[in-house]
Amino acid sequence: MDNDKRARTEAWLHYADELGISPFYRDRASQSGEQSGSESSRAQSQVSTAVSPAPGRAAHPVSAAAAPRRAPAAVPAPKQPAPAAPFVPASPGLSLFDAAERVSNDSLPLIRETIGDCTRCKLHTSRTNIVFGVGNPKAELVFVGEGPGHDEDVQGEPFVGRAGKLLTQMIEAMSLRREDVYICNVVKCRPPENRLPERDEIATCSPFLMRQLDVIRPKVICCLGACSAQTLLQTTQGISRFRGEWMDFRGSKLIATYHPAYLLRNPAAKPEVWKDLQKVMAVLGLQPKRK
Ligand code: URA
Repeated sequence: MDNDKRARTEAWLHYADELGISPFYRDRASQSGEQSGSESSRAQSQVSTAVSPAPGRAAHPVSAAAAPRRAPAAVPAPKQPAPAAPFVPASPGLSLFDAAERVSNDSLPLIRETIGDCTRCKLHTSRTNIVFGVGNPKAELVFVGEGPGHDEDVQGEPFVGRAGKLLTQMIEAMSLRREDVYICNVVKCRPPENRLPERDEIATCSPFLMRQLDVIRPKVICCLGACSAQTLLQTTQGISRFRGEWMDFRGSKLIATYHPAYLLRNPAAKPEVWKDLQKVMAVLGLQPKRK
């Protein structure tokens, strides 16, 4: 790694330290030698040139109080940051995250209780309801969207508006029901005017998403849209560069596809999304629904 990249990586790890999520990122980076499988290698080769933290990230640290704090590390973090590598499988065995960052006896109700009547970021000022997530807590498949819209904010449930209805149709086309899967978002409060969630909001809220995924431990995580994929994979690459590629994420298989709201605007992209969903179905052993 050249000096500039190393400096930026160190700045990012310092920022992640302040958030209390550094072992999560160090963990994936440190596993870079363990990747196998042609699909994940292909995905990595497509994106590995843009793994540096988003420009300016380290310049906007979220206050330590804003992020949930966890137990002190049982295993010391490596002294030297390993080369950053975003699409690297998490080790199925003991990882730094397992050792230091998992909240013992964590559960979805505990995560919801921890979020409380959240005021950690500015989104709380305009929200009606916190939209935590809905579905089967033991789901094999989790869909991760971006953030609640107007209907979700009013009802307190993710994906219940127009895009949500399309997502429900997609789920049913996979011969599943909404209640079979788990659905959540990167940020739990609606960004005003349906704008994209901002970096500080994502940094504040995403540790709760990580905990949700760690509790559910789904076989497959399906990221809906760029925000979700870029957050989980820590990349600034456009989604079209890795859409439909399998990647490993902390013991789950992760695939990114287009957001249903994008499909409402661009129905021509539906066949591509259906191909992605068919890949998910193959992994989960599902047959398409008979008409
Ligand atoms: N879009 C999202 O990303 N999430 C929702 O819950 C609704 C729309």
